[in-house]
Amino acid sequence: MKSEQQRQPVECEFMPNDYFAKLDPSTIFDNDQPLELDLGSGDGSFIIGMAAHHPDRNFLGVERLLGRVKRVCRKATQGKLANCKVLRLESKYVIEWLFPENSVDRVHLLCPDPWPKARHHKNRLVQQGFLEALYKALKPGGEFRFKTDHPEYFEWVEEELKTFQKLERLEWPEDAFFYPKTDFQLQWEAEGKVIERARFRKPE
Ligand SMILES: C[S@@+](CC[C@H](N)C(=O)[O-])C[C@H]1O[C@@H](n2cnc3c(N)ncnc32)[C@H](O)[C@@H]1O
Repeated sequence: MKSEQQRQPVECEFMPNDYFAKLDPSTIFDNDQPLELDLGSGDGSFIIGMAAHHPDRNFLGVERLLGRVKRVCRKATQGKLANCKVLRLESKYVIEWLFPENSVDRVHLLCPDPWPKARHHKNRLVQQGFLEALYKALKPGGEFRFKTDHPEYFEWVEEELKTFQKLERLEWPEDAFFYPKTDFQLQWEAEGKVIERARFRKPE
């Protein structure tokens, strides 16, 4: 089996030259447009919708499953979306190690695995260490946006952010701005589940 660094990237896939060095974000898209990350981009309805709507911003999906990476890349290629790429890597690693300080404009974490069992809570992405790294990676004024169908994970995130203190909560009224629903959100709403959302900003 080929290692990740020997594998040829598919079109629209971004592979860093060095997975152990800080990334220069301008090497991803070859321009200095604002950068948004979609952690766990799944089948990509959200990131594809955002990239099509905001050609003046760049979108990098982060997804660990190769099949999903390929699917989103195919959609980005078909849609001729030069501002959308996908990185096959683990979200926590990307935030903690790959992006330099003050380099990312927005981070989206939409319908992530809630790890509902108490003994699995340690696997939840939103914890103090992640928030510290997220805070560093965000530019001043940058945002973290979160959605879930899982009420207990939502409370967990609110508590973690309250404890963290350095990111301020913003209002997020329904339809306040263009924000496409993700594949999981559509599926869960069809099952009658309620999706909670929260939005936080790194102060200027
Ligand atoms: C529940 S799905 C949600 C997908 C998408 N955000 C949506 O709402 O439709 C979670 C996605 O995150 C990916 N994922 C889970 N843990 C991850 C991790 N640690 N790093 C990168 N991707 C991850 C999964 O492969 C899956 O595609």
